[in-house]
Amino acid sequence: MKIIAGNWKMNGSKQALKEMTAELNKIDTDNAIILCVPFTMLGAETGKINLGAQDISNHEKGAYTGEISGAMLKEAGAKYVIVGHSERRQYHNEDNDIVRQKAEMAIQNGIIPIICVGETMEEKQAGKAMEIIESGVKESVPNNSNGHIIIAYEPRWAIGAGITPTHEEIEQAHSLIAKTLHSLELDETPILYGASVNGLNAGDIMSLNNVDGVLVGGASLKPDDFISIITSIK
Ligand code: PGA
Repeated sequence: MKIIAGNWKMNGSKQALKEMTAELNKIDTDNAIILCVPFTMLGAETGKINLGAQDISNHEKGAYTGEISGAMLKEAGAKYVIVGHSERRQYHNEDNDIVRQKAEMAIQNGIIPIICVGETMEEKQAGKAMEIIESGVKESVPNNSNGHIIIAYEPRWAIGAGITPTHEEIEQAHSLIAKTLHSLELDETPILYGASVNGLNAGDIMSLNNVDGVLVGGASLKPDDFISIITSIK
């Protein structure tokens, strides 16, 4: 079974979600389909499509204007939440420590965190990609994970760029993540690849070793594009 997760970022509408899920529900598949949508769309009726959020507060409750807690996300219908996405790390200065606290809050509330790790172009060029990926996993995965987490390898330089690493590079990163998860006794954790996934490259990427699915940004916004990814599973 593969996991196909969409990340709508700050896009879409309730109507767009209705149209998307109507199409997705017509597909006969045993694979897990998740759409991580803006908070305001979480209450939607989506049939067999699971909804996720894109952020969660690292605090339980209290005077944190504008934040959304794990309990609120759960109540709103989120089964998953993306934590540590590159854009949160870049625009909101989130580091592995905050990401781990957020993942912890998700787990406490019965929500599966999709923990993103990956290197910037600068880190890649400095030969530090593997180091960043390994410390990303070690420092962002909480102790209470109990096996209820998903890791997404997202090379930050390839997000929205229309380019992906080579298959060898993806396998190298995923193998390191699998090894790191093994050392944490979290062997069953699914590892997704994300960044510039589309209908043409998804099938091959999902056949690589240790790739359990994909996290899709831009190509998850249009039913035809997203469906072509789901149906490309070999
Ligand atoms: P992209 O985004 O598929 O548009 O590259 C991926 C992501 O940001 O999760």
